[in-house]
Amino acid sequence: MPENQKKLHNALAERIKRQGPISVAEYMSLAAEAYYKNKDPFGAAGDFTTAPEISQMFGEMIGAWLVDVWLQMGRPENVKLVELGPGRGTLAADIMRTISAWPDFRSVVSLHLVETSPRLRDVQAVALKGIRAGWYDSFSEVPEGLCFVVANEFFDALPVHQFKKTAGGWQERCVGYDAEKNAFLFTTTPLDFDITGMMPEEFMEAPAGSIFEISPASLGIIDEISQRLKRCGGAALILDYGHALPGLGDTLQAVSQHRYADVLEAPGERDITAHVDFGTLATVAGQSAAVAGPVTQGQFLIAVGIEARAEKLGENATDKQRRDIMSALCRLVAPQAMGRLFKVMALTPKAATIEPAGFEPAGVEAHHDEISDD
Ligand SMILES: C[S@@+](CC[C@H](N)C(=O)[O-])C[C@H]1O[C@@H](n2cnc3c(N)ncnc32)[C@H](O)[C@@H]1O
Repeated sequence: MPENQKKLHNALAERIKRQGPISVAEYMSLAAEAYYKNKDPFGAAGDFTTAPEISQMFGEMIGAWLVDVWLQMGRPENVKLVELGPGRGTLAADIMRTISAWPDFRSVVSLHLVETSPRLRDVQAVALKGIRAGWYDSFSEVPEGLCFVVANEFFDALPVHQFKKTAGGWQERCVGYDAEKNAFLFTTTPLDFDITGMMPEEFMEAPAGSIFEISPASLGIIDEISQRLKRCGGAALILDYGHALPGLGDTLQAVSQHRYADVLEAPGERDITAHVDFGTLATVAGQSAAVAGPVTQGQFLIAVGIEARAEKLGENATDKQRRDIMSALCRLVAPQAMGRLFKVMALTPKAATIEPAGFEPAGVEAHHDEISDD
């Protein structure tokens, strides 16, 4: 066992022995902190590949989307472009390169990156060489003002609490420790609060074994973003894998070297995430902001013109490059790749009455799929 992993494994084991099982949310949070502190998990040599790492077209589409929103808003000045969880900085770099083609917009944009990992901040600074940017630990630290927020695969990394229906009613699903096997295991603990009201009413009577997830951390951040949009103006674009309506099911997953792995093995060494509940995010955001979507990533990218962009890129390319462009396009938009599981949602101030591109009525279908379909 590597030294870092041993340290977290032992610290968690000691803590559980002392205090009893910890919530899944606490386990995820501690594992994620160690993971992003110690690893650069992106790309073929890492654990997973995100959309901006697949193709520059992804960031180009988002850059063009931001320009369109800015024009619809009447060209406001002093736009804070805020990226949540910028990874390697590839998406921010592609967006900044794209918007340079609109100098009027580029000249009013400042870049703000919300990133907790010092290691990834260094990687981002290299990717964004020559571009002035500020780094923050949380969205609330980004100075007040009109902002365009972009978050790709950020919310899936935030901790979820899990609740399991047992013979004795709903209990919290927790992580315990088996000292004999020196291994972590799932267990449940009775609730010391009333869960009614935290989940859709129809889930209360779900059969034994059902699992319900909720991410207070995600709901807190989406609420903060929506309230900021209401106070200061701007827009937000959220892209992630998840479901369009709240559902029941265990979506907790660990990924290591591009394969699914055991969530409870090697905490801090694997990327642990959960599917994003876009339905509940939309409900919370809708209290302060106008919500567009969610639609599937395939619908969004095609509606904002990724196919035309792929064709354009292919015009002066070699045969091999053209094949690579088409393969990247497929990975981003095909339903069996990222096109359907990934969803996109936009927020704008209710007062702004703008129509963000990519959310045309064809996207309505996306509201009616289920976790199990994904
Ligand atoms: C899966 S990566 C997504 C990277 C990038 N957006 C992309 O598309 O390639 C998650 C990112 O969120 C950051 N992150 C995770 N939890 C965070 C938190 N609570 N606050 C800020 N950043 C966080 C990670 O360090 C990492 O940069």
